[in-house]
Amino acid sequence: MNIRPARVGDVPSIYELIRTFADRKVMIRRSLGELYESIREFQVAIDDNDRVVGCAALHVFWEDLAELKCLAVAEDVQRAGVGRGLVEACWNQARELEINSVFALTYAVEFFERCGYQQMDKADLPHKIWNECVRCPLFPNCTEVALIRSHEPVPRTADAENRLQLIQV
Ligand SMILES: CC(C)(COP(=O)(O)OP(=O)(O)OC[C@H]1O[C@@H](n2cnc3c(N)ncnc32)[C@H](O)[C@@H]1OP(=O)(O)O)[C@@H](O)C(=O)NCCC(=O)NCCS
Repeated sequence: MNIRPARVGDVPSIYELIRTFADRKVMIRRSLGELYESIREFQVAIDDNDRVVGCAALHVFWEDLAELKCLAVAEDVQRAGVGRGLVEACWNQARELEINSVFALTYAVEFFERCGYQQMDKADLPHKIWNECVRCPLFPNCTEVALIRSHEPVPRTADAENRLQLIQV
């Protein structure tokens, strides 16, 4: 199994992976256009037959905050470490960008906890993240959980609050 930055040729496979889980309402559907536009945010897992078996994206919000999103692993290779590998690849990318905290909104709470994430109050996230949620079929009754992994303790200072408010729309 190899994890590498995605290429435009991976987009149809990423689209299909996400669509499978979007149909079950555990992920937000992404159009091909959106995927091409954001392809530089994606990492993919490739198996020995060159098949895309997993994907994840890191979306930067601000100087100290990014979201891990679009995480999906093909059902036939789940529970074999692919998801953890993708989460680590995104975390390493965040570190290279000098971003301290990465959060995720998910139903896969135990999986993220096993990957070093801690539950947090959704209300502590910047309002900007809800722009995408309005496209979700479950909005506004979503029960997704917010989890975060940080190099530093989760920001609670007045300074951090001010910075978060700066990126709210
Ligand atoms: C969640 C998901 C990405 C996990 O991928 P995976 O490749 O199966 O995960 P891994 O094999 O790397 O698992 C890492 C650890 O989490 C555990 N784990 C994985 N899925 C789990 C689950 N659904 N519930 C509880 N624990 C889980 C594994 O047992 C493993 O534990 P370990 O610490 O003992 O090794 C995958 O199930 C998936 O694509 N789900 C559908 C889409 C989805 O919900 N995406 C998340 C949206 S943000």
